Amino acid sequence: MKLDVSDIISRSPLFEGVPPEGYEIAEQAFRTIALRPRQTVFEAGDPGHALYLIRSGKVKISHRNLDGREKVLAYLNPGEIFGEMSLVDDEPRSATATAVEDTVIHALYLEEYWGLVRRFPQVAHNLARIIARRLREMNHEVEVLTFEEARGKVAYALLKLYRHRYGEETPRGRSMPLTHRELADLAGTSRETATRVLGQFQELGLVAFESRLIEVRDPAGLENVLYDL
Ligand code: CMP
Repeated sequence: MKLDVSDIISRSPLFEGVPPEGYEIAEQAFRTIALRPRQTVFEAGDPGHALYLIRSGKVKISHRNLDGREKVLAYLNPGEIFGEMSLVDDEPRSATATAVEDTVIHALYLEEYWGLVRRFPQVAHNLARIIARRLREMNHEVEVLTFEEARGKVAYALLKLYRHRYGEETPRGRSMPLTHRELADLAGTSRETATRVLGQFQELGLVAFESRLIEVRDPAGLENVLYDL
């Protein structure tokens, strides 16, 4: 289904509770940017004065460790926003944002953001809620990465993508374009470990996989692995 900008605005958590006449005003405040696969929106360390709403496609949020290895923090989907941290605290970008596939995003610059907030203060509260939700997720993630064994880490990474509705729904679950390397980077394990754990999960019927696709078939079963039930 192809959504236009007003559909995306009305579905985005940033505009929850905003009256419909606000959508049109918001639409005018956004600048549209089309990105090709692997095109960068900004790099970690860049100055930043805009947040972005994803209209279509997929955006990867990542950064590089000192040894040059990439750590993927998140894959974001239509309706989600990114770049809000620098907009709010005026610090450099905390991570790099890259289009994974053909992607369209809408940029909201600081001045237009303030214009919207003056008319619809709910937008600022919604942004605070999005940031709080992300912080909760991060606290949980730190716990998993600190205390969980490899199986828990891989289960958590798969569940995180599943809950973010990454990939496509299938009759048997959700099929996600993902290499073992990418899964390992998300889970904070080696590639070999991610592959070994995936093999175990496949035997248990929790997932199925082929070259660059991983299908989650039993999210409740993955939760059981994560919480050791
Ligand atoms: P900003 O720091 O402006 O630029 C990088 C953006 O990546 C950041 O704002 C957030 O929008 C997003 N981001 C940073 N860390 C995470 C994370 N752990 N999960 C999801 N998004 C993130």
